[in-house]
Amino acid sequence: MEFTLDYFAGLAEEAARNLHYPATTPGLYAPIQYAMASGGKRIRPALCLAVYNAVCHKDPAAAINQAMAVEMFHNFTLLHDDVMDNADVRRGRATVHRKWGENAAILSGDTMLSMAYGLLADGAGADFAAIFEVFNRTAIEVYEGQQLDMEFEDRSDVTVDEYMEMIRLKTSVLLGCACRIGAMLAGAPEDVCDSFYNYGISLGLAFQLQDDWLDTFGDPAVFGKEIGGDILNNKKTWLLITGLAESEDELEGILGEDLEPAEKIGQVTRVYNRLDLANRCAALAMRYADEAVAALKGIELDEKARSFFESLAKDAATRNH
Ligand code: IPE
Ligand code: IPE
Ligand code: MG
Ligand code: MG
Ligand code: MG
Repeated sequence: MEFTLDYFAGLAEEAARNLHYPATTPGLYAPIQYAMASGGKRIRPALCLAVYNAVCHKDPAAAINQAMAVEMFHNFTLLHDDVMDNADVRRGRATVHRKWGENAAILSGDTMLSMAYGLLADGAGADFAAIFEVFNRTAIEVYEGQQLDMEFEDRSDVTVDEYMEMIRLKTSVLLGCACRIGAMLAGAPEDVCDSFYNYGISLGLAFQLQDDWLDTFGDPAVFGKEIGGDILNNKKTWLLITGLAESEDELEGILGEDLEPAEKIGQVTRVYNRLDLANRCAALAMRYADEAVAALKGIELDEKARSFFESLAKDAATRNH
């Protein structure tokens, strides 16, 4: 067994392709199958499996159902998120609501949430009550984060602190949860579970900062999503919050105009470039990657596991997709 992202993500990829769906009501299951078999980085289940193995050195297959519960939940949130963000493309393909309509995104998404709990329970054994509590609390926090994300679209006074709390909720807690569940299944003591959770939280902050960076500065062919959606939705990313604070009233003026989409994206991006926001955002993401690494300082880990978690954090902050 190699301690690499390719290995752990590969296990999740295989498990995703082996998921079985009832033959009845194909209209309900086709979008689920489409979402679950469309690739994706599988970073959450990979984290869960890697933490499990790093702690107890046993075959990560023992944690695969709980790892896939997190991945199923993640994909469920994407079905609804793409409706909320009016997004047409994900992983280089049409989003579920564009292909099948919003009702399909709602109902197939709901079904994925229930399937996620089914996977979570499958083989969790005596730990189930504690794992359920972590997973369910995390799910509610994700919804809170998504609510704030939407509310911030209509505000121009969002602070960087508010943004960091919003992305902690919508993104980081699920990465933290994946790590914590892996540690719990491996029988780790509470302080080790906490350290891995904190690693996932900081990793998630770096990961979302970079997601927001990619939404403006990425290459759509590699990123797999359209560029500029955050700008069109007035998403209060670190880029926009900082740009609003530092561009006098210029950005506020641009947001107030009724511009064509490409024109708005172009004008906002020019302000970002003038303020050097791409580099500054990347530097901030790297700071959180360093914090993630620091969260694991106090715990005992094999050299190969430690270097895996270190490179994963740096890669999250610099990824191009
Ligand atoms: C997308 O997550 C949603 C965010 C939290 C940014 P990923 O970037 O992990 O999406 P996939 O699963 O790899 O496509
Ligand atoms: C997504 O944030 C967070 C969740 C889905 C919970 P984004 O809206 O930035 O994710 P993408 O960019 O659509 O993947
Ligand atoms: Mg989105
Ligand atoms: Mg969103
Ligand atoms: Mg995004």
